[in-house]
Amino acid sequence: MSESLVSMKNVSYSYETTKALIDINFEIKKGAFIGLVGPNGGGKTTLIKLLLGLAKNQKGSIELFGTKINKFKDWNKIGFVSQKANSFNKGFPATVYEVVSMGLTAKVGYFKFLSKADRRQIETAVNQVGMLDYLHQNIGDLSGGQQQRVFIARSLVSNPELLILDEPTVGVDTENVRKFYDLLHNLNEKQNISLLLVTHDTGTMTHHATDIVCLNKTLHFHGKPTEFTNLSDRELSNIYGHPLNVVTHNH
Ligand SMILES: Nc1ncnc2c1ncn2[C@@H]1O[C@H](COP(=O)(O)OP(=O)(O)O)[C@@H](O)[C@H]1O
Ligand SMILES: [Mg+2]
Repeated sequence: MSESLVSMKNVSYSYETTKALIDINFEIKKGAFIGLVGPNGGGKTTLIKLLLGLAKNQKGSIELFGTKINKFKDWNKIGFVSQKANSFNKGFPATVYEVVSMGLTAKVGYFKFLSKADRRQIETAVNQVGMLDYLHQNIGDLSGGQQQRVFIARSLVSNPELLILDEPTVGVDTENVRKFYDLLHNLNEKQNISLLLVTHDTGTMTHHATDIVCLNKTLHFHGKPTEFTNLSDRELSNIYGHPLNVVTHNH
């Protein structure tokens, strides 16, 4: 049995007037690459906010790496790349190196006091995402896809075991989306980083994910990608409230 990185039991969450999550049971095991899908407003971001401690657990239990979330301290084991990460304007005055170093500031305070080992770690993370040639370029001068890679590097620099990404490919063009998935696949397979990825791209996910989880307030499906693609149109429209066309891409 592989280690449980995340375990949610009977978790419900409401905003003032909206029930966002109802009785969720969900587990992430070490090594998994989970594609979290579902309609807009289905509660995907809320689930992630709960896991990151950004929303307070109201009902049920959440454990991270075997520890109750309110006692959990090893936050550097979890990296997060948000939907809005890729929003630096042209000319934004920080280099790739500086942006990635921010991933270490929790540890070292200010990046001007980085040790040689820290600097090497930054370069390693930038290299992992294939952006070493751009180390001293300004982040604002890069494309959306390149910026998103830099944000991955920023979250990799503290060596997380679990990386959570909330719709990271929004605004990235098709060719770079493909490269982005290849990168994630690589991090998962070669570096054994577990991944939880929120995406609308169910077709591409079926080629990379180990599990698909489909959320619309309740957890409607948790299984293998092939099982998800085999759901009938009727089952999918029940979940989404409208017909969904799952297109599988062949590489
Ligand atoms: N800060 C908030 N205040 C009130 N309602 C919210 C807030 N954030 C999300 N919601 C509501 O909670 C539900 C789930 O939203 P969300 O978790 O963002 O879904 P998803 O990420 O799947 O699109 C939606 O009905 C949304 O309108
Ligand atoms: Mg969302």
